[in-house]
Amino acid sequence: MLTSSWSRFLLCYLSLILYFSASVNGLIETRTIDDALGDSADPNAKPIYLPKGQWTPRPGNCVGCNINPKNPELAFKGTWHDTTHFATDDHNSTVQFSFTGIALSVFCILPPKTAVAVTNYNLTFLLDGQPVGTPFVRATNDLTNDYQYNVSVLSLDNLVNTQHTFVMQMASQVNDSVTLFDYASYIHNDQGIISETKKNSHLGAILGGVLGSVAFLLGATLLVLFARRRRHEVRTMQRAEADPFEYALRIDPIPLHRQDMPTPSSTSGGYGTSILDTEKGPPPAYSLTQ
Ligand SMILES: *[C@@H]1O[C@H](CO)[C@@H](O)[C@H](O)[C@H]1NC(C)=O
Repeated sequence: MLTSSWSRFLLCYLSLILYFSASVNGLIETRTIDDALGDSADPNAKPIYLPKGQWTPRPGNCVGCNINPKNPELAFKGTWHDTTHFATDDHNSTVQFSFTGIALSVFCILPPKTAVAVTNYNLTFLLDGQPVGTPFVRATNDLTNDYQYNVSVLSLDNLVNTQHTFVMQMASQVNDSVTLFDYASYIHNDQGIISETKKNSHLGAILGGVLGSVAFLLGATLLVLFARRRRHEVRTMQRAEADPFEYALRIDPIPLHRQDMPTPSSTSGGYGTSILDTEKGPPPAYSLTQ
């Protein structure tokens, strides 16, 4: 009985600790944003391609496309989006998506230098409206004779843990360029995310932390008290089994004395009558003993 009570308490306590440490450990994960399928954590969050109609989802039929990767299965999830941006265009060509994370990488497919098409790359990047990273520029001569898959065009880390808006753009008014966007990956850390209303989230985090700790301590204290009470009950029971007579005396010793022994005020013959006694009137038991 004694050991089972304690082991139950320990089990509760250990599972609480495991629960907290597990939720701490499971917080950092790498997520992907596929060009077609979108965010691995939220399929509704898909990249936006502008201008509309200027990007082609691949593979599949593409009239007039001269950049056709021979091994589409080497693309992430087998898909990519491509477009050609011309220096004379009056718009930028962009891929845009949002993510909540602390690091970001973007991957493209590069054409071979032999392709009969615009083959050079000229990408610049914006994070939350600010230029970020090193522009990815590849002249045709920098390319190889084969398609190159899974090429990192940008890698950012040490980002503020908040929701970011990312834009990859072709904006050159000097050179034509091409892009075959395959996917992005980012590191999501569930802990310490700073929401857009930063003050509120800080307050929320502090309040959450304090309330969480208080709840945890309260729970642990209740468990300890419960375990002690159980232990006391168990000991009393064990004593009762060992010595039934002593147990009977111990059950409720106070009423036993009150009934058998007169109290000092009843034997002191009047002068001890207190205000309390007169207010309440003498208890019935007294008249029996006098
Ligand atoms: C693509 O590149 C990333 C980063 O270099 C790497 O982690 C990943 O395994 C690569 N994927 C394939 C299919 O090669």
